[in-house]
Amino acid sequence: MSAFERAFGRAPAGVWAAPGRVNLIGEYTDINEGWVLPLALPHTVRVAAAPREDGRLRLHRGEDPATGWAEGGVEGADGWAAYPSGVLWALRAEGYAVGGADLQVDGDVPMGAGLSSSAALECAVALALDGLYGLGLSRQEVARICRRAENDFVGVPCGIMDQMASMCCEDGRALHLDTRELTWRQVPLRLEEAGLRLVVVDTRVRHALGDGAYAARRAGCEAGAHALGVRSLRDVPHGRLADVLELLPDPAVRGLVRHVVAENERVRQVVALLDAGDVRAAGPVLTAGHASLRDDFGVSCPELDLAVATANEAGAAGARMTGAGFGGSAVALVDERQVGAVTQAVRAAFARAGYGEPGVFTATASAGARRVA
Ligand code: GLA
Repeated sequence: MSAFERAFGRAPAGVWAAPGRVNLIGEYTDINEGWVLPLALPHTVRVAAAPREDGRLRLHRGEDPATGWAEGGVEGADGWAAYPSGVLWALRAEGYAVGGADLQVDGDVPMGAGLSSSAALECAVALALDGLYGLGLSRQEVARICRRAENDFVGVPCGIMDQMASMCCEDGRALHLDTRELTWRQVPLRLEEAGLRLVVVDTRVRHALGDGAYAARRAGCEAGAHALGVRSLRDVPHGRLADVLELLPDPAVRGLVRHVVAENERVRQVVALLDAGDVRAAGPVLTAGHASLRDDFGVSCPELDLAVATANEAGAAGARMTGAGFGGSAVALVDERQVGAVTQAVRAAFARAGYGEPGVFTATASAGARRVA
């Protein structure tokens, strides 16, 4: 008997899966209408679903029936239940005729690890509701609605990278996404041909200041764009960066602007290197991105800095934190023969520093969200 049947006493109408992501480069650019380069992980959130006639949502996660029930429809949803509830709310707010559902949630995307478990949950739920009620949503539309759920229902002012990555990524490719135009290109990631691997280090720490600090960075970027008279920092050409920084008296805002403008340029550089088949040369660009997030944008933390420094000392071609930071994960570009050494070195450095054991795995660029049963 499936977990869905144990929870709800009937069979599901289908099962939908949506992946988490690791962002290769392009951090905090999506909240400035810039460019990003994420890839989908093989790890997914899976949602088994069946329609309900009363318009309500009933939720169940894993094997624990006491966790995450939201019997009362979309009101009063808190914790993880806010994400599926927000998706139902957003679909209805957009005028879609969507009824209720019983949803059983499972999956293996590490939670709170900066690998987009929330976007994966949103996208899996949205696809399930799309499937149950024949809404015929496009992939971008699902991503947009899920982002709206997170912004306006859950209350996190995130950009659209994670939802677009979960919906639109393809096997073996990274998604070069323009977050203003919502246009993209699938960029082949020829890691194996280059003898390279992407190693993800989940620090397993989540610093509490994360959420307010994310909103504060976003507000600071908007202040910078306003001071420069542009719609968003995406509109500042990299070639003008030095001149533009002179116009910003506040050093904090100057750091935010420098990061975002330079990061958009780093995305361009990494895409050009991938296109040219020179994957290894992307390593130092990733490391420069980390320094920028640490020093200019102020979203790294000691555990992430240690993971990045240690991976590089142990021979990685480059490494950086990935996602929003304040804990979560780092990603390193590593020669396939050195994956063991880098993994060992990071584990040993964490033990020496008195940090908890990190989760380390090799990421392969995987498929976007889909129906699986
Ligand atoms: C989180 C947000 C994304 C993006 C990243 C930082 O993952 O959900 O929209 O802003 O942080 O790049």
